[in-house]
Amino acid sequence: MEMSNEMLEVMKCRRSIRKFTEEKLTGEEVEKILKAGLLAPSSKNKRPVELILVENRETIKALKNCKNMGTVALDTAPCAIAVIADTRKSDVWVEDASIAAAMMMLAAESLSLGSVWIQIRNRRSDSADSEAEVRKVLHIPEYYGVLNILALGRKAEEKAPYTEEDINLSSVRKEQF
Ligand SMILES: Cc1cc2nc3c(=O)[nH]c(=O)nc-3n(C[C@H](O)[C@H](O)[C@H](O)COP(=O)(O)O)c2cc1C
Repeated sequence: MEMSNEMLEVMKCRRSIRKFTEEKLTGEEVEKILKAGLLAPSSKNKRPVELILVENRETIKALKNCKNMGTVALDTAPCAIAVIADTRKSDVWVEDASIAAAMMMLAAESLSLGSVWIQIRNRRSDSADSEAEVRKVLHIPEYYGVLNILALGRKAEEKAPYTEEDINLSSVRKEQF
């Protein structure tokens, strides 16, 4: 089946949004985004990914301090979702968690909401490993990996959608390198 034009339009419109209005997301919006993450495929269907929904401003502020740079979106985001996975269940949890995060970003855009991926795995705060810091803030067990935090909210900045010209078809090689 051909991809619907609508899906490609959502993909073109999705941009990283790092400034949000104060308005909270509705329960229905949050639920749809979480469901999109839980619909993601996973290797051997092990489903190691879990999501931590955070809407408490103080906790979101604490998450911001888990990393040195690239966390400005957490200054205004009314909602954050930590994408974590049980590393005992899968040796490719990073891939599984990445797909869940990507699907949630697209679901957010389809609801005209803004989002941005804030990398946690392999990143550091001033004093410590970001993954360890997030585990501490959210009381996550040691054997869970923390891939990223999605910042979510209503867009308070405008970014131009991608156009056909932005799509770098030269990255596609035909039949061989
Ligand atoms: C793996 C990954 C890590 C990222 N880490 C961060 C981050 O820590 N902070 C941030 O503000 N944006 C982060 N981004 C967003 C990228 O900067 C952004 O996707 C890229 O500049 C392209 O812009 P666009 O999302 O508007 O298309 C990350 C994106 C990916 C895919």
